[in-house]
Amino acid sequence: MKEAIVIGATRGIGKTIALRLAADGFKVYATGRNPEALNNGVIAEAANAGYTMIPLIFDMTDRDAVNRVYAQYFPDHAPDAVVYNAGTNADDLFAFMSPEAWDKVLHTNVDGFYNTVQPLIANMIAQKNGRVVVISSVSGMTGQTGQVNYSASKAALIGAAKALAREVARKNVLVNVVAPGVIDTDMTKDLPKEHVLPLIPMRRYGVTEEIAGVVSFLCGPDSSYMTGQVLGVNGGMYI
Ligand SMILES: NC(=O)c1ccc[n+]([C@@H]2O[C@H](COP(=O)([O-])OP(=O)(O)OC[C@H]3O[C@@H](n4cnc5c(N)ncnc54)[C@H](OP(=O)(O)O)[C@@H]3O)[C@@H](O)[C@H]2O)c1
Repeated sequence: MKEAIVIGATRGIGKTIALRLAADGFKVYATGRNPEALNNGVIAEAANAGYTMIPLIFDMTDRDAVNRVYAQYFPDHAPDAVVYNAGTNADDLFAFMSPEAWDKVLHTNVDGFYNTVQPLIANMIAQKNGRVVVISSVSGMTGQTGQVNYSASKAALIGAAKALAREVARKNVLVNVVAPGVIDTDMTKDLPKEHVLPLIPMRRYGVTEEIAGVVSFLCGPDSSYMTGQVLGVNGGMYI
């Protein structure tokens, strides 16, 4: 059975990705910080549907904690697919942005990528097979008012994914990025819809299934000659 790990699978986009990959036939490792949220949520839903899903608990900003869990579950192999989904925001105009808001977003979103993806890469290379999918954002492609920190972190992930794609392509490890627009999750629930919808040509928010479907494609057989690409899933927000 092929294996996938979804970093940040407690809720929102990551939860739907975990369930979609499980439905695709992957044994899924779903990660989260809060064991109760993870076990009562995505893990319980997966069990009800008859899927194999394993909860892994760590805060991805804690490098040692990640390595301890990986040593237990991936001592000598890597999952076939690694989905780096977890992320955070702390929006404010740059003129007013606190050092804490800057540090939190850069540290979580960018260092989290190193902490959770880098320890798996050597085994993916050795296995000569693998998919890495990074969830960035339309904000990392266009920049967004009030999101200098978040846009910087999401653009950094695009650069990191493109560089990694070049390093590991020869070993058949394929690295791609999904850049969502505005998706209906906790992260966007407080946005002023009346101001946001006019910015979206399709005039609606996306749903998490619309991201999970693209991630499924990037983890599956039909994307076997794609690497280093950024797929926008944004209702036309960035064309
Ligand atoms: N929603 C959108 O419109 C949108 C648009 C573009 C890009 N994105 C990106 O898509 C991804 C998922 O977004 P979402 O809307 O589903 O967000 P969400 O509902 O806020 O969920 C965020 C996920 O990231 C996890 N997470 C955050 N910090 C973490 C940490 N330090 N360690 C481990 N896990 C951590 C959360 O776990 P906990 O439950 O433990 O907090 C949660 O599972 C993010 O990278 C986000 O930037 C979202």
